[in-house]
Parts: sequence; structure tokens; C-alpha cells
Amino acid sequence: MDFKSVALGAGGLAALSADALLLVVAGTSIPNDVDAVVAPVLRDAVKSGDLELKAGRTLYVHRPSGLKVQRLVLAVAADDSAKSFKTAAAAGLAALKGLGVVHLAVAQVGSSRLTESHAEALASAVADAVYVYRHTKPSAPGAPRLAKVSLACSKTDATTVTVGLRRGSAVASGVELARECANRPANHATPTFLAEQARALARQHGFKVQVLDLAAVKKLGMGSFMAVAQGSEEPLKFIVLQYEGAAKTQAPVVLVGKGITFDTGGISIKPAPEMDEMKFDMSGAASVLGAFKALGELKPRVNVVGLIPACENMPGGRAVKPGDVVKSMSGQTIEILNTDAEGRLILCDALTYAERFKPAAVIDIATLTGACVIALGHHHSGLFTPDDELAEDLLQAAKRSLDPAWRMPLDEEYADALKSNFADMGNVGGRAGGSITAAMFLKKFTARYRWAHLDIAGTAWKSGVHKGATGRPVPLLVHYVLSQAR
Ligand code: BES
Ligand code: MN
Ligand code: ZN
Repeated sequence: MDFKSVALGAGGLAALSADALLLVVAGTSIPNDVDAVVAPVLRDAVKSGDLELKAGRTLYVHRPSGLKVQRLVLAVAADDSAKSFKTAAAAGLAALKGLGVVHLAVAQVGSSRLTESHAEALASAVADAVYVYRHTKPSAPGAPRLAKVSLACSKTDATTVTVGLRRGSAVASGVELARECANRPANHATPTFLAEQARALARQHGFKVQVLDLAAVKKLGMGSFMAVAQGSEEPLKFIVLQYEGAAKTQAPVVLVGKGITFDTGGISIKPAPEMDEMKFDMSGAASVLGAFKALGELKPRVNVVGLIPACENMPGGRAVKPGDVVKSMSGQTIEILNTDAEGRLILCDALTYAERFKPAAVIDIATLTGACVIALGHHHSGLFTPDDELAEDLLQAAKRSLDPAWRMPLDEEYADALKSNFADMGNVGGRAGGSITAAMFLKKFTARYRWAHLDIAGTAWKSGVHKGATGRPVPLLVHYVLSQAR
């Protein structure tokens, strides 16, 4: 998709040439700054009752008089925020679905405010509107013909808008890659496939990449990661990606993504209903790949390492059993009381591996617990960190990228639940505060650096008729990393 800013000339909106104009009306009363040609159309639409000035409402106008464009869609936004702009743009795009629009112009009336965030939000709404999963369904409805989007703005805003569109476009390609990887069924998206994706990204953008196999992982002493993988015939992979955008002396941000390509639960097997959705259990890994895709396009001055422990969690003759004790790379022993709490078992070894990069901060991203879905639902990702400053930075990134996260508690008291009579810790802490005890488990492996954990179990994918990956939290991650660039 080609995103451009277009500075409005003396002719205003009437002179815009495109296949369609999507006009976002900011606010729920007729604004008085409306372009002289558009004003009568808008007033008429409202007066006739065809357009209610209520957030999310749209009206399609064919061959609007006085305008050069042949198609006009009015879309009402609650206010002039970037978030409302995105919602309205999405509604407008839905109204254009199936039409032959190749070049779409977008503008806003009711506010002169078009910030970087507005431009970025538009890129994201467009990318969402045109994404179609087809890898294993080539018969899926034809891709929209939309190829170019121009955001009309004042001359003074043109630079700002261009910067926002560029960032939005990069984030959107990252989101798209994450969705594409996560949507693929587990017989396609294997650990080997994830490693190939990482290699392809490295080739395209000049990243360093390393893929460790079982022998290498064994040598490192990743007994916990290996225990999860041992029930599957599918070989494990430990993926290391490195983006070097700053001096080597600059400590990197390390992103660690849970890469369980299918989670049956193992011997502590999951019930059959919805088990198919456990193909999305590598969404953390997919978000790391997506973030790297965006970094490759934006090339910010920052160093970033991506770590992805990838394997399947399967029952089998060689599978790890409840009560088995394993030794993690950190040297700490773990009693595996529930083989379905496997995410933390693969992440803990990756977190220990992260120490070697002397990181500025380590963020792990994981579809870790059903308990997080119960706590926060599908809107906010769960954010866990003992570091207030890191929490602030990540919450800022979440706000700015319209990819919300909510901080959860992490008091030491919660660690009591992980006590074991047979190892340094158990891998589960009971039902109460399940997302917190999971985070407390990870915390035991993060003493040597600043660390945060994102539980994306409720936000990485949708269930039901719109079943599919969302690409979250790629926007949050990219914004955080950009905020660390200098
Ligand atoms: N991948 C799941 C978490 C999950 C469950 C994500 C449902 C999205 C929807 C994770 O590996 C898991 O099975 N966690 C267990 C932990 C429990 C055994 C302590 C869970 O949440 O039930
Ligand atoms: Mn599990
Ligand atoms: Zn899992």
C-alpha cells in the first residue's frame, strides 16, 4: 500500500482527485470550518436524516455535486482524537468495501488537528481493512483493489502527516507479518517455519540471525525448554535475531516471544473445544518477527535482539510428566506440576540466555495464561514489571500506538504459591491470580536486568466468526523500541 500526504491547495477538497474521498467528520455537531463545497452536502445529509452525527455512522454519496471525486463517504468520529479518527476511518472503509476504489483520499473536517498519530491510525485502519488470509484458503474473497491512500492536510501539517504515515505503514507491515504467521495452522507454522521466517527477514533487512537446534540448546543447559519439546516429533528451534541500528556499545532492548506452535497441554491435556485456537500460542513469537519487520523498514538508531524459543507442546511416550523435575539454564530446578503451564518453561531459559546481551531492558511477550483473559478480557494486554519507569515507558507506547496495556501487580507475596517440596519452584501456583503467579515464575529468571512481561492471551487473536490473529502487540513494541532510539 502506498501512503502519501497531500497538501490541500486553494481549491480545497473540491479539487481533490482520487477514486473516492473518505471524509471524517470529527465531533457530533456540524462543524463550522467545513469546506465550502462539502458543507452543503453534509448539511443536507444531516437534515434529511440520512446521516446521524453519531460516532461510527457513515453515508455513501455517489457523484457528489461540486466535487471532483465520484464517490464520497462521510464517516462520523466521536471527537478529534486519533483513536476516534481510526474508528471512523474503519467504518468508512467498510462502506467502500467491494467498490472499485484504487486510489482513496482521506480528509477530516471539524478539526484542523491531524497529528502523526492520526496519520499512523489511518495506515493501521487501511491495513486492517485490506488484510485477507489466503495461505490455506486461496479461494478467499478477492483482495480489495485499493493500492494508494492520500491523507489530505494543510501545508503546515504535511511533514507531520508524512512522518506518521511512514511509521504507520511500517507498523502495519509488521502487524501483517505477525497475523500471517499466527493465522497459519500448526502443520504449516512449525518451529522450523518460524526459523525460516526469521532467516528471510534477516536476508531482506540485513539482520543477524542464528538458529539453535536441540544439540546447541542442550549444550547451553536449557533443560526446561527441552522438557516441553520432548513430547513432540517436531524439532525445537531457538531463534536469535539481531538488529544493529546504533553503536555496538549501546545496550540493546531484548524482545522474547513465546513460540509454542501448538499447545495441546501435553500430558495435562486440554479439553477438545477450541483446542484449535492453540495454534495461536506462538503469537508472542509472531509479534517479535513483526516488530523486526517494522524495524527493518524504519531503521531507527537503536539495538534490538529478538529471542524465540519455539516448539510444540504434545503428549507422547517421551513427553514430560506431572511431577518431573527439570533443571533450567539458570541452574534453578523446576517441578513441572502441570505440563500445560509450558510457556513459562520455555521462556525462563530464553530469559537466562538474554543475560549475555547485557540488555538495557528485556520484554517478553506471551499468550501465557487463560487467567489474564479472565482478568482483562480482550481489550488490554497484561503488563507485569517491578520497574516503574519501564512500566511508564511501555504504557506510553501502548497509548500512543492505540494498542492498550494495563499494569498488573507483582508483589513478592504472590511467589509463595510457587513453592515446591521437590525443586526450587513449581511451575504453577493454583487458580488464584493465575496470570500474576505466572509472571512471578518468570521474574525468578530476570534478576540481572530490567524486565517486563506482556501477557497477550486475550489480545493476540479473536475467537468466533472473526477468528484470527490481530497482530497485537506489534504496534506497542515498535513504539517502545522507537522511544528508546536516540
Ligand atoms: N497457551 C495457554 C494460555 C492460554 C489459554 C491462552 C487460553 C489463551 C487462551 C498456556 O500455555 C496455558 O495453558 N496456561 C494454563 C496455565 C495453567 C495450567 C496454570 C492456563 O491458563 O490454563
Ligand atoms: Mn499451555
Ligand atoms: Zn501455551
